[in-house]
Amino acid sequence: MNPGRDPRFDILFQPLQIGPVTAPNRFYQVPHCSGMGYNRPAVLNAMRAIKAEGGWGVVNTEYCSVHPSSDDDGYPYASLWDDTDTRNLAGMADAVHAHGALAGVELWHGGQNTSNLGSRETALGPESLPTLYAPWQCKKMDKADIAEMRLWHRNAALRAKAAGFDIVYVYAGHTYLLAQFLDAAVNRRSDDYGGELANRARLLREILADTRDAIGDRCAIATRIEVGASWGRPRRAKHADGHHRARDRPL
Ligand SMILES: Cc1cc2nc3c(=O)[nH]c(=O)nc-3n(C[C@H](O)[C@H](O)[C@H](O)COP(=O)(O)O)c2cc1C
Repeated sequence: MNPGRDPRFDILFQPLQIGPVTAPNRFYQVPHCSGMGYNRPAVLNAMRAIKAEGGWGVVNTEYCSVHPSSDDDGYPYASLWDDTDTRNLAGMADAVHAHGALAGVELWHGGQNTSNLGSRETALGPESLPTLYAPWQCKKMDKADIAEMRLWHRNAALRAKAAGFDIVYVYAGHTYLLAQFLDAAVNRRSDDYGGELANRARLLREILADTRDAIGDRCAIATRIEVGASWGRPRRAKHADGHHRARDRPL
C-alpha cells in the first residue's frame, strides 16, 4: 500500500486477469482515436507508448479496419489489411509492452457508415441504404458476403496476434456494421440474420466465435456494444417519394 493513498483506491493498482492475459493494474485506456491512424505510425506508436509509460495498464488502438471495404479516409483510423499494417502496429504493441502494459486493438468494420473514398470498394451493410457521408448506396450483404466478412475478420485477428496484441476487440458499437445488424430500426432482414434479437446478434456471435477460435489461445477477446442510439445512427426517414434515406451525423 502507498502511505499517501486512500486504501479504497488500492484495488486500482492490482493486476487483473482478462482471459489468457493479465493487466498490471485497472487503468484501462479504451479504444479512442489519435489523430494519426494508419498514416503516421511512428507518431502514433510514440503517443501510445507515453500512455503506457504514464501508468495505463492497458492501451488500445482506435478503430482498426479489417478490410478495404471499410475505409474511413478523411478520418484517422487504424488498419490491419496487410503485412505493412501488421508491422506498423507491431511497433505500437512493442512500445506499449516496453512499459509493462498490455496492448489492445479494436477490429472494426464500418458497414453502411463508410464511404470508402480511398479504396473505392462497395460499402456493405445489413440493408441497402445510403452511406452516411457520401451519396452512394451500400450493398445489402448476401450469405456469400457474410461468409467473406467472417473471413476478413478472422484474418485481421490473426494479423493482430502476429503483431503482438494481447486484447482483440470485435467492435459492435457506435453504429458500425455489427451495430447495424443488432439495430432493429436498421436491420429489416427476413433471413436468419434479421428479425428477433438472436438473429440480429448472429453475425456478432459468429465473429466472436471465429476470433476466439483463431487467437483465443493467446489473446483476450473483447467486444464493445451500445445500449442506445448514438451519433450517426443511420435512421430511416421516409420521404415523399417513398425512399428511405439516412440522415447526416447530427451536429
Ligand atoms: C475523439 C474521440 C475518438 C473516439 N474514438 C473511438 C474509437 O475509435 N473507438 C471506440 O470504440 N470509441 C471511440 N471513442 C469513444 C471513447 O472510447 C469513449 O467511449 C468516449 O470518449 C466516452 O467516454 P466514456 O466511455 O468513458 O463515457 C472516441 C471518443 C472520442 C472523444
